Amino acid sequence: MASNDYKKVTTHALLEMKQRGEKISMLTAYDYSFAQIIDDANIDVILVGDSASNVMAGHISTLPITLDQMIYHAQSVIRAVDRALVVVDLPFGSYQGNSKEALNSAIRIMKESGAHAVKLEGGAEVLESITRILSAGIPVMGHLGLTPQSIFKFGTYTVRAKEEAEAEKLRTDAKLLEEAGCFGIVLEKIPAKLATEVTKSVEIPVIGIGAGAGVDGQVLVLHDLIGLTKEFNPRFLRRYLNLYDDVKGAVESYIADVKSKDFPNDEEQY
Ligand code: KIV
Repeated sequence: MASNDYKKVTTHALLEMKQRGEKISMLTAYDYSFAQIIDDANIDVILVGDSASNVMAGHISTLPITLDQMIYHAQSVIRAVDRALVVVDLPFGSYQGNSKEALNSAIRIMKESGAHAVKLEGGAEVLESITRILSAGIPVMGHLGLTPQSIFKFGTYTVRAKEEAEAEKLRTDAKLLEEAGCFGIVLEKIPAKLATEVTKSVEIPVIGIGAGAGVDGQVLVLHDLIGLTKEFNPRFLRRYLNLYDDVKGAVESYIADVKSKDFPNDEEQY
């Protein structure tokens, strides 16, 4: 079975893709319109990422976005999606306090948005929360490596786990997440060699962003891929469009047409 044959992508389907060596495609979406387009294009997984905090709201980090705001984005995405598995980020502050709070946050996302799974950042330090969410029957995806909710601890967005101690913790955390029952792990901005090793060491799918080609799938922020974000140019990003300039050009043409009284013409009115 090829991934396009799945009428609905499930966590089990992702496992099957890993087992037969088919790469998993994953992109972010935060609204109905883009979610509809990428689902129609047969993306496997849609992540309602807390990167909405940067991309949609203009914050400098993912920290300010709230649980209510994540649910709003997830509801909009879910309305558009027929096929993809929709995973929603638990935002900063909604799961680190204690496992009960984590479970309540995950339940709100699932109940109020209709999403299929949640993702949260961290390994051993959030294991209790992960276990409690899983015990309620909610699929959980882990996220290791560069975890943007900890950016003020890291200080920079540079590659993580280059030093052996951090690499070793990442290896251990990946195994812990698998043993706890996570259905997948995102690895962000770590050396490709380490990502390949971790991918081989676990049976669950590993999705990379800036983690090289040896992982089971790739995720990017849609707005980066289509060139709506202009300033963000990390080495791992492949841009397929330059929509910032295209949209700006279209708006400039519209303004010129309005000013010159070219728009609307005789056919564009009643
Ligand atoms: O929020 C997000 O967009 C993410 C991806 C970078 C994986 O977590």
